[in-house]
Amino acid sequence: MDTNTSHRKERIADDWFADAFGDLYPVVYAHRTVDAAAPEAVFAAATTGLAGGHRALDLCCGAGRHLVTLEQYGALLTGADYSPQLLSLARKRLSAATALIRADMRALPLAACFDVVFSFFTSFGYFLNDADNLAAAVNMARILKPAGRFFMDYLNPLSLDRRLEPESRRESQGYIIYERRWIDWRAKRVNKKITVERDGIPLGTTTESVRLYTLEELTALLKDAGLRVEAAWGDYTGSVYEEDAARMILTGAKTT
Ligand SMILES: C[S@@+](CC[C@H](N)C(=O)[O-])C[C@H]1O[C@@H](n2cnc3c(N)ncnc32)[C@H](O)[C@@H]1O
Repeated sequence: MDTNTSHRKERIADDWFADAFGDLYPVVYAHRTVDAAAPEAVFAAATTGLAGGHRALDLCCGAGRHLVTLEQYGALLTGADYSPQLLSLARKRLSAATALIRADMRALPLAACFDVVFSFFTSFGYFLNDADNLAAAVNMARILKPAGRFFMDYLNPLSLDRRLEPESRRESQGYIIYERRWIDWRAKRVNKKITVERDGIPLGTTTESVRLYTLEELTALLKDAGLRVEAAWGDYTGSVYEEDAARMILTGAKTT
């Protein structure tokens, strides 16, 4: 199926992420809870060797749902995100000892003091320009101490087309959520347009757009950024990554 055809003329704004993670995001992703994130955080902590006394950054922490579990490891935690709305939700659920900062992942105002950096739930590949995506990876590497470790949970482009539901309508907590998804193979991106309604009144429309990288492409990009991929999993049960995998979960270390 050519999932691109009917959407060929739709333009994605360069800064789509400035709107997409606002007040409607917690409505659309209400099922992405602290409980759902807990086993993901445990897996990420185990695969990176997170331990008490480590400094760790949850890059693009959103509402802090992984940080809640990571707080149990006795590490010194920081969450960074661009969305003021999601950071304020995070602040309410996290301990005062967990630092939260508003920052763009391309320009993190943080020193090279972290033992571990986490990137959960497809929080990468947002920029239309490949140089900006590289800049985000360079920042992940830069804020790590020598040999510091990274964790990145990304989508698997090889199974995406088969899994993609082009259109859906669902109800959640009194809201009606319409989602339209398509792959733009030319731009190598998967896009989603989301409209939320309540009581027949449209509350807003947001767009999401993520760059599709094969394992080889993402490994090469991370290598250019100074990060060496050491393992690739296909899901949070620890299955080895393969073409049909649900996810592409990478861990490794800073090379310099
Ligand atoms: C898919 S959400 C994941 C959030 C969180 N990791 C989770 O699993 O719930 C992506 C996150 O990236 C943040 N984000 C988007 N663009 C960003 C940017 N340029 N710099 C920093 N954070 C950004 C969003 O605000 C959002 O919280």
